[in-house]
Amino acid sequence: MVLQQLAAGKPGPDIGPLLWIRGSMTTHEDDTTCRLRPFRFDDLPQLVRLDRRCFSPDIAYDRFEMVYHLTAPRHTCLLAVPTNDSTPSLLGFVIVAVGKASREGQIVTIDVDPDARRRGIGRLLLQAAEQLLAGHRNRSVRLQVAEDNAGAQRFYEEMGYQQAGRHIDYYPDGTNAIEMVKKLSAPENRRSAE
Ligand SMILES: CC(C)(COP(=O)(O)OP(=O)(O)OC[C@H]1O[C@@H](n2cnc3c(N)ncnc32)[C@H](O)[C@@H]1OP(=O)(O)O)[C@@H](O)C(=O)NCCC(=O)NCCS
Repeated sequence: MVLQQLAAGKPGPDIGPLLWIRGSMTTHEDDTTCRLRPFRFDDLPQLVRLDRRCFSPDIAYDRFEMVYHLTAPRHTCLLAVPTNDSTPSLLGFVIVAVGKASREGQIVTIDVDPDARRRGIGRLLLQAAEQLLAGHRNRSVRLQVAEDNAGAQRFYEEMGYQQAGRHIDYYPDGTNAIEMVKKLSAPENRRSAE
C-alpha cells in the first residue's frame, strides 16, 4: 500500500492542525530564505539522501526505515525548502511523533543540509515541531541524541532541552545516546479554553 502510494507520488499522511505554518516561515541569513511545508511521498528519495549526509552509515535510515517512520501512526514530517525555488531541493526536515495517552511527543530525527547549517533552519524546524505537538496538547517533547554528537546536544540545549538520562549501546554501531526533554507551554487558545 505504502509503496503503491510512493509510486503514485500521492500526498503523505494527514498531519493534523498546521495553522501555525500557514503561509511561509522564513529565516533570513546570508541569502537563505526558506519556508516549511508538509512531507509528500515523492520527497522520499531526497529525505533518504539528506539523512545519509547527516549521519554515519550505521545510524542513517535506509529507505525502508525512513518509510516506516514517515508512515507510522501519529508520525508526521515537515520540510524546509527554499522560498520561491522551483527546482526541488531540500534544506532540512524534521520527523515528529505526536504523543497520545502520554501527552509526550518525540523528535524522531531532525536533519539540516551540511551546507545550510548555522542559519537558523534547525531552530525553525524544531520550533514548528514543538508548536505542532503543543497544538496536539502534548505537554513535553523527548528525543535521543548520540553521546558523541556534541554539536546537536548544544543545539538542543540552546533550544531549551535538558538531559534526562543515558542509553548504553543505543545505536546499531554501539554508540550511547543521551535522552533530552523539554516541557512545552500550552498554546494561547488552549489556555483560554481550560
Ligand atoms: C543539529 C542540527 C539539526 C542543527 O541545525 P542548524 O540549522 O545548523 O541549527 P541552527 O542554525 O538553527 O542553530 C541554532 C543554535 O543552536 C546552536 N547550535 C547549532 N548547531 C551547533 C553546533 N554544531 N555547535 C554548537 N552549537 C550549535 C547555536 O547556538 C545556534 O545558534 P547560532 O548559530 O546563532 O550560534 C544540524 O547540525 C544537523 O542536521 N546535524 C546533523 C544531524 C543531527 O545531528 N541531528 C540531530 C540528532 S538527533
